[in-house]
Amino acid sequence: MKTQLGLGLAAIGRPEYINIKKENINQSETAFRENAMRVLDNAYSSGIRMFDTAPSYGKGESFLIDWQTSRQHQDVFLSTKWGYTYMANWELGYAGKHEIKEHSSAKLLEQWQTSKQLLPQLKLYQVHSATLDSGIFENKTVHRQLLEIKKETGLKIGITTSGAQQSEIIEKALEIEVDNEAVFDSFQVTYNVFEQSTFAILKQLLDMQKTVIVKEAMANGRVFPNDVFSHYLDMYGVLKTLSKKYKVGVDAVAIRFIIDSLQPDFVLSGALTTQQLQDNLKALSFHLNPTEIQQLKTMACKSNAYWSERSELHWQ
Ligand SMILES: NC(=O)c1ccc[n+]([C@@H]2O[C@H](COP(=O)([O-])OP(=O)(O)OC[C@H]3O[C@@H](n4cnc5c(N)ncnc54)[C@H](OP(=O)(O)O)[C@@H]3O)[C@@H](O)[C@H]2O)c1
Repeated sequence: MKTQLGLGLAAIGRPEYINIKKENINQSETAFRENAMRVLDNAYSSGIRMFDTAPSYGKGESFLIDWQTSRQHQDVFLSTKWGYTYMANWELGYAGKHEIKEHSSAKLLEQWQTSKQLLPQLKLYQVHSATLDSGIFENKTVHRQLLEIKKETGLKIGITTSGAQQSEIIEKALEIEVDNEAVFDSFQVTYNVFEQSTFAILKQLLDMQKTVIVKEAMANGRVFPNDVFSHYLDMYGVLKTLSKKYKVGVDAVAIRFIIDSLQPDFVLSGALTTQQLQDNLKALSFHLNPTEIQQLKTMACKSNAYWSERSELHWQ
């Protein structure tokens, strides 16, 4: 299948997220709602049909429910998640943890009550940030509940992953079965010019006809030249050369690398504005050649260093 671009609502649904450069924007809930509807409509009219959200993205899930309820699109693929609760309650400068994880049966049942409003266009329900120690792989009650939801609704069940152990987490998830039936059909994973450690397992998933969704294509904004990340100077140089050659932004080159090197089912744009989204969409207007793909492949970082740097990025 040809890779499609999807739109993720992580940055659109709440005033504070992992931001590096941060647009100067009105952070009121009303302004965010208006922006969300504008970006969603712009995405749809530009051909995007896949939209990804989560209960922990502030109002991200309710914006998507409201949008879909009013637009009634029949040809969209919506995905959401369960397992994290949004804590910041739109409070700017919130000092606590913005999201709290709980992979329990009670949390699944609670969040499903809201998320199922996205049916019938909800096509994928994901465990939000499965880890080896979150309890998700041992909880047989949850596996059974997920399979029941799958049987009742026909949607796919997936996991999302982050961190240096993404490959091990995916391997573990592939072992989970109920009555000899695999529970997980879809994998939303970080893979980008810097973090390429999941390449082999993602290829394996694609060979197995599992759905592969790539997130954090911009490495949370780190692909854009920034003095704070002087250790990426070589990468910034290569991305700049390619962006000049193809007359697109660095963002489009970063997304194109994911498409040309891996051919996943979906790559998520994390755009906050219609301008960013339109810039991201330029990734669909050109191809990198094999030498350029190879050059970017050799420039990946060490996975541990990538993730420890990500954990230092601020929510603002
Ligand atoms: N565990 C999970 O399940 C999980 C985790 C993360 C993401 N996701 C999904 O993946 C989607 C994308 O991930 P992400 O937003 O975290 O990471 P990303 O795509 O790597 O980074 C997006 C950030 O890059 C910056 N940016 C600057 N210029 C941009 C441009 N032209 N286009 C796009 N972004 C630009 C923006 O931040 P500045 O304000 O700093 O400019 C934006 O918030 C999310 O919306 C969500 O659906 C899932």
